[in-house]
Amino acid sequence: MADPLDKGTRQWLSRLSVSELDWLQEPEELKEELREQAARRLAQECGVAASGSRVRTVTVPFVGEVKLNEPGMTGDNLGVLTWGASLVLARIIAQQNSQDSQDSKDFKDSKDFKDSKDFKDSKDFKDSKDFKTGSRFAHCRAIELGAGTGLCGIVMAKYGVSVVLTDLPEVVDNLKINIDLNHVSETASAAVLDWSNPEIEGKFDLAIISDPLYSKEHPAMLLNTLRVLEVPHILLELPLRPLFVSERNELYAGFDSLKYTRTKYVEEEGKDLFGNDQTFAYMEYSKN
Ligand SMILES: C[S@@+](CC[C@H](N)C(=O)[O-])C[C@H]1O[C@@H](n2cnc3c(N)ncnc32)[C@H](O)[C@@H]1O
Repeated sequence: MADPLDKGTRQWLSRLSVSELDWLQEPEELKEELREQAARRLAQECGVAASGSRVRTVTVPFVGEVKLNEPGMTGDNLGVLTWGASLVLARIIAQQNSQDSQDSKDFKDSKDFKDSKDFKDSKDFKDSKDFKTGSRFAHCRAIELGAGTGLCGIVMAKYGVSVVLTDLPEVVDNLKINIDLNHVSETASAAVLDWSNPEIEGKFDLAIISDPLYSKEHPAMLLNTLRVLEVPHILLELPLRPLFVSERNELYAGFDSLKYTRTKYVEEEGKDLFGNDQTFAYMEYSKN
């Protein structure tokens, strides 16, 4: 068992784990290895990577508890985790499906928010038309890209919205487990969609994307995926990590080139995977 890390070391490792390491003259594989080692050590510290899987319970306003299987760190990867951005986006999705027009801050202060678990269990909630059909997204066919543990897609599916949760091949079996754990298999399914070769059956109205940028290749791959999918509406949640400014700008410029218009941008404070303060930005994009 490793010794506990002090706060400064935790913050340093946290920055290192998402750094482009531009100051190093080493090959990209070595930089990747360094980032991986930093993330592993942090994960170990947080208990995230305890041996084997764990089922994490996340409470989402209006929806209540969502159970997420998070396979622990295995020999050569960090496992599948639920990142801070998806906690924010899941709450926004639930909020928008439940109460389209209510302002986020009012919502957090409201009695409904505080009582949301009781409300979820009540007959009114189960019978509520809004819950079953959703509101804005009621007739959408949605796709989640880089779903990870699938929190956002699962929350959307709980509102009766048809959604396909996608990720790399090694992540998809766990997405199926999480769909079953949350009893949303009527509306949700899981499929492989690799942004480097974006092939998937079907047409989608809405893409749900949370925390997709952590390498130089990601903006171009993601933009190409959206181009191929021809998806007209996007919900995007990004952690505003200082080290990925150029990747974010590349993504924003790409949205312009693909003729998407940004229709919403809201920043809020939250916590990253390792418990550090993090600013997140929620964005909506649309095109005709
Ligand atoms: C930082 S995680 C975010 C996961 C999840 N959206 C969340 O917020 O918890 C990035 C996700 O993107 C996925 N990903 C990375 N490269 C990908 C690619 N080429 N194609 C599809 N998914 C990819 C990873 O497997 C991972 O699940």
